[in-house]
Amino acid sequence: MSTHIGAKEGDIAPTVLMPGDPLRAKWAARTFLDDPVCINEVRGMLGFTGTWRGHPVTIQGSGMGMPSLSIYANELIRDYDAQTLIRIGSCGAMQTDIAVRDVVLAMTASSVGNPSRAMLREIHYAPHADFGLLRAAHEAALRRDTTPHVGGIYSSDTFYDERPDLHEQMVRHGILAVEMEAAELYTLAARHRRRALAVLTVSDHLVTGEDLPAIEREQSFGEMVEIALEAAFA
Ligand code: ADE
Repeated sequence: MSTHIGAKEGDIAPTVLMPGDPLRAKWAARTFLDDPVCINEVRGMLGFTGTWRGHPVTIQGSGMGMPSLSIYANELIRDYDAQTLIRIGSCGAMQTDIAVRDVVLAMTASSVGNPSRAMLREIHYAPHADFGLLRAAHEAALRRDTTPHVGGIYSSDTFYDERPDLHEQMVRHGILAVEMEAAELYTLAARHRRRALAVLTVSDHLVTGEDLPAIEREQSFGEMVEIALEAAFA
């Protein structure tokens, strides 16, 4: 057991998918894994371990925002020796050539700050995905009827951002989309020499104001899980 994860030693697979929402972890595990077993219920942040095409896989909720993800990713790495951590989640598109339902593969994740920021002091570290995972996810996305966008995203600390000028600057600098977790995941993975990637589905559009209905979110979420699994075991 770790502080926030109740799983026993050996209950967590070397490959972990991390949706923000614990109920999505449950849905994804029941939909895509064989013989899923619930390995964590602490604070309702559900985690499941099963197999995918014979490979052991854990799907563990991360919660929303970098401080929450940081707790789970730290414990998965330090206490359970997770090797590959893939965030699967939603994002808000920031470019007009990206549509809702599209898949975004985050090559880099910029942020104003993340829980690792203080440690890096004056260095503006560039959090980045594992190239092998990124390439494999891109290939997996191309194999299906999906438009994968690959590039930089922005990991925000605030969903209800009252600094529209900041978003403007992100758009201007070619940032594809905004979410709230990847920058910390990439920084932790780099520090501990693990592989990390964020596979995201566009749920809303900051420029057009479009929003994906809840029912469709689930459908496009499934595609993202498959891309993440194929990338992890490519
Ligand atoms: N995740 C999905 N949509 C988002 C948005 N608009 N801002 C931050 N995180 C998001």
